[in-house]
Amino acid sequence: MFDERLYRGFLTAESFGRNILVFNETDSTTARLLETETPYYSVAVAESQTAGRGRSGRKWVSESGVNLYFSVNLPPMRIEQLLPFNIAIGFAVCDVLRGTADVRLKWPNDLMAGGKKLGGILFETSLSGSVTEKVILGIGINVNMTDFPDEIRGVATSLKEETGINYCREELLAELMNRFESFSAAFLNGGINIVREWEKYSASLDKKIAVHKNGVKAVFTERGITPSGFLIAEDERGVITEIVTGDVGYDFSG
Ligand code: BTN
Repeated sequence: MFDERLYRGFLTAESFGRNILVFNETDSTTARLLETETPYYSVAVAESQTAGRGRSGRKWVSESGVNLYFSVNLPPMRIEQLLPFNIAIGFAVCDVLRGTADVRLKWPNDLMAGGKKLGGILFETSLSGSVTEKVILGIGINVNMTDFPDEIRGVATSLKEETGINYCREELLAELMNRFESFSAAFLNGGINIVREWEKYSASLDKKIAVHKNGVKAVFTERGITPSGFLIAEDERGVITEIVTGDVGYDFSG
């Protein structure tokens, strides 16, 4: 079971993660925070989720006791800040995990290692006009999982799978909270240039990517992101397109 005292021993952040809700099992940590009133920067963490939510309505595999599944209740922000913030949080997660493995991002913020998916980030919001009412940041990271269920075997990896090390999840979560605190302050002060930083974090800059949209696949070369966080993709004729939605595939064969 997640050890809250151990976690607090590693926590230096003053806002992020100070208030923590620990669940042995819940449907989704994001659903918990959407439905409960908690102070900003509260974190909800679960040993397992019965209805973990992934991007594009997919299920997030949430095996018990081996990984990290957590959500953070963030203060409101403007809608146009959401995608850039989303991407910047990916940088922060990479920075923490790169202490141990070569973790990179697949646009906008899939966490990748060794060409496989290590984790994912999903923001869920409720809106009031052009301002978000609730912003819940949800993150799933495969930490010590070595036995992969059929539906993700071959496409998913974990930190342990990449390095052979067994990780302390409490320490990892605390380090993420510590990093988020400094990173989000820097982001909100305009101190993070996501366009320039993307070059450091992308798994596929200047490589072939397959973009799947509405069941149609098209091959592009990734050329970076815009200040708004859109993906810049170049087709075979050299025409540049900005991609706003669509799953970026890893079909390097084209
Ligand atoms: C993705 O599909 O890449 C995003 C996955 C996000 C999963 C996390 S696990 C904790 C939080 N609770 C959820 O139900 N989803 C997010």
